[in-house]
Amino acid sequence: MKNCDLSTIITALGGRQALQDLLGVGPSAVSNYLARGTLPQRALGPVCEAVRARGYHIDPASLEIIGHQDAGAGAGRGMREGMRGGMRGGMLRRVLLIVGGGIAAYKALEVARRLQDHDITVTGVMTGGAQQFITPLSLSALTGEKAYTDLFSLTDEAEMGHIRLARETDLVLVVPATANLMARAAHGLADDLATTILLATTAPVMIAPAMNQAMWGHPATQENLARLRARGILTIGPDDGGMACGEEGTGRLSDPQEIVAAVLDQLGRGDGALSGRHALVTSGPTVEPIDPVRFIANRSSGKQGHAIAAALARQGARVTLVSGPVTLPPPPAVDLVEVETARQMLAACEAALPADIAVCAAAVADWHVADAGASKMKKQEGAPPPALALTENPDILKTLSTHADRPRLVVGFAAETESLYENAAAKLGRKGCDWIVANQVAGDEGDTVFGSDSNAAMLLTGNESENWPRMPKAEIADRLASRIGAHFT
Ligand code: PMT
Repeated sequence: MKNCDLSTIITALGGRQALQDLLGVGPSAVSNYLARGTLPQRALGPVCEAVRARGYHIDPASLEIIGHQDAGAGAGRGMREGMRGGMRGGMLRRVLLIVGGGIAAYKALEVARRLQDHDITVTGVMTGGAQQFITPLSLSALTGEKAYTDLFSLTDEAEMGHIRLARETDLVLVVPATANLMARAAHGLADDLATTILLATTAPVMIAPAMNQAMWGHPATQENLARLRARGILTIGPDDGGMACGEEGTGRLSDPQEIVAAVLDQLGRGDGALSGRHALVTSGPTVEPIDPVRFIANRSSGKQGHAIAAALARQGARVTLVSGPVTLPPPPAVDLVEVETARQMLAACEAALPADIAVCAAAVADWHVADAGASKMKKQEGAPPPALALTENPDILKTLSTHADRPRLVVGFAAETESLYENAAAKLGRKGCDWIVANQVAGDEGDTVFGSDSNAAMLLTGNESENWPRMPKAEIADRLASRIGAHFT
């Protein structure tokens, strides 16, 4: 692995997707490289070549970009500083911009341009109606990326595929969201590329409605809006004022600058309480091999830890999420590092330091099998079952709490079956963390916190404690993230 300023290299390559395509890897591999600040050895040749092809001078030994052919090598330093200054934390984000067919479509071009000022890569998708107002060429010229229009295009499917388009983004943004597009999305239609993406995406969706005031006020549109909101779709606007059709009322597209600000907030790049902070979060179970086919694990789903990572990102933090194997999609706007064992989790956490905040929500196995075999253990006829010798795993929370590079705020979790407060308070002292979130393993109705969508918790901050009643894990996460935000302001 080669240490380098990967954020600068990615910008020079034209974005994260370009690096993925070049190396034939997925977004999580790039997140891993970014978290570690390294590239695998096999990537060095192709990366240098691709960066040079885009006109940059690169030192193959240090992987330092030392200028652009249009600026001369001497301009390198200034260029790098400029690139870094614009990146605010070195995080490149991707927005899929769906342009709907309304008179406000031309304003989507301004949104696309302004998003790029914040180092956000924008890929455009246009409905048939949108193409009556602006052309794919103008959108693609502004984004520097292909503008997609067709659900059944063989070329597009070979290049990207509509499912990949829908998935490989941090946010789907619809500008303008017309009454027709909202109705089709609300009813789950998938009759063009835009609506298919809205159905297939696992990323957050934000819509900026714009239409005639009577259409906006119509009960059908309001019902569709309520449906979309109930599904978690975020909305910005519409505003009041004069419209292109000459009427006055509610229905104007929000100002492009406001749309961009809402996107930045959603991507954790706005002026949130944790802007400029780096948060490290552990989540999920660890999996400790017995042999190549068997393992010791636990029932953690990662729902609580992942929700905390997303909530901290919404507060503006740059988040590194170190997770054991889970089936959840990566939360938007966080850098995910996937691990299996406790030892790998510790290594990934230490590699992610320095951090301002650490939240250890993972259910880490306390032991691993001392001699995990390289070949499958065989059942011997008549022989007693094999005994597994266990060795203690490193304590990640304790290691971070006593680390030379200790995060300023270290928050642990305690999953307890009884005496919640007493056990959690003892754990707080033993582990050396600042706060602890205690949750009962089984609730009064026999439900368990592991895997469930809700949780009830007690936050212990030194000598004080507060009870949080049962609520969705996302709300527990928001409460914790706001408490952390308040601690840093
Ligand atoms: O993932 P979900 O299904 O949403 O469930 C959420 C959860 C129950 C896993 C979560 O809310 C939770 O309580 N996580 C901590 C579970 C746990 O292992 O608790 P513990 O009491 O064994 O450990 C105490 C603390 O030390 C935890 O912060 C844990 O991450 C940390 N630890 C434990 C052992 C170890 N070797 N290293 C650690 O860092």
